[in-house]
Amino acid sequence: MEWTPDARELADLELLLSGAFSPLTGFLGHDDLHAVHERGMLADGAPWPAPVTLHLPEPVSPGDEVTLLDPEGTPLAVLTVAAQEPDGLTSGPVRGLGAPEHGPFARLRRTPAEVAEELGGRPALAVTMRGPLDDLSEVAAIAKELDAAILLLPLAYGEEGPAVVRAALRAKEQLPAGTLVVSVPLAPREEPEIDLELREHVAANYGAAEHLAGPEPVRIPGPPHRRGLVVFFTGLSGSGKSTIARGLRDALLELGTRTVTYLDGDVVRRLLSQGLTFSRADRDLNIRRIGFVAAEVARHGGLAVCAPIAPYASTRQEVREMAESVGADFLLVHVATPLEECERRDRKGLYAKARAGLIPEFTGVSDPYEEPDDADLVIDTTHISIEAAVAQVLGALRSGGWVR
Ligand code: ADX
Repeated sequence: MEWTPDARELADLELLLSGAFSPLTGFLGHDDLHAVHERGMLADGAPWPAPVTLHLPEPVSPGDEVTLLDPEGTPLAVLTVAAQEPDGLTSGPVRGLGAPEHGPFARLRRTPAEVAEELGGRPALAVTMRGPLDDLSEVAAIAKELDAAILLLPLAYGEEGPAVVRAALRAKEQLPAGTLVVSVPLAPREEPEIDLELREHVAANYGAAEHLAGPEPVRIPGPPHRRGLVVFFTGLSGSGKSTIARGLRDALLELGTRTVTYLDGDVVRRLLSQGLTFSRADRDLNIRRIGFVAAEVARHGGLAVCAPIAPYASTRQEVREMAESVGADFLLVHVATPLEECERRDRKGLYAKARAGLIPEFTGVSDPYEEPDDADLVIDTTHISIEAAVAQVLGALRSGGWVR
């Protein structure tokens, strides 16, 4: 079978294949993880500080071969399954398929063996970086004392990755000739001590005689009015969410301080999601498509207004994570007009048809709607005008600083 791991797992895969995670040759299973957690070593006693895991939700058996693909579908490696836990945690050795690296600064990737060759036996002072270095003279002084070459290892992972590599290239210009820059896709681990230990292991695998951990970057998010924002309306058909969302879009265009992309449920279904049904799987796909577009808009600082029913909490949560993973904010507005009121209005005549059994799987009638418990704003339009509802949302955007 084939499987596309997530970004973190792919980053780990690359380090497993390059030898930067030596002595690891594959993803860890239950016993190793337990030993790592309890004693900072693998089950066989070799020191190893951090979990390196793969989650594969589809069932596989020991001995199965799984081809691991990158998000564009290029085969990267073959995993031979050793074991799979009930939660999908899948362990086993990986074998690379020799796919060329791509992505920003791919030309700066090196395996530890390639670095050893470039160093030609000279000891190295490795500096792992997640942001700019603040004291280059200290680095230079230590290298001089050790008579070592300087090996800058920008830990290029995620959105910030290219910026970290650029910081390393800038630092190289200020450091002695012969300083090497090697981009290493090491995803950060949650616990700082474990992250540091893992950085040390990786640096040692790159031949470092000595390791310096660069300072943690201070992330100052831009002001909210410059940050991307996804305003996500959810509610039953006929609840008024499209009308409020449209009113919000118009009000934002009148203010003119932000660009707006409007992704209405019905409009999306005619274009982006043409042909999808109202099964759970298709509804989820529809919402993921909306989330994907909204997150792309927000990635560039735009404001996306979405208004699908989005009946499932876990799918709404996915969209929240999509937005947050590109550094944008996410505002969930629950248009909580009760079913009785939506049905009484029945603007499109759909409830009558649903009750008559003419429309199957109709939300609220014959299909579920999971009420959000994480809404940032709840609006029941039973007794308020559209203008008042729009004003409430706009007020929330103002008080959050997203519009001025
Ligand atoms: S969602 O569940 O995938 O979020 P979406 O917002 O795109 O739904 O589409 C909902 C619109 O499709 C409703 O406003 C209604 O006009 C129409 N519709 C047609 N069939 C159904 C159905 N079975 N359930 C809900 N809405 C339906």
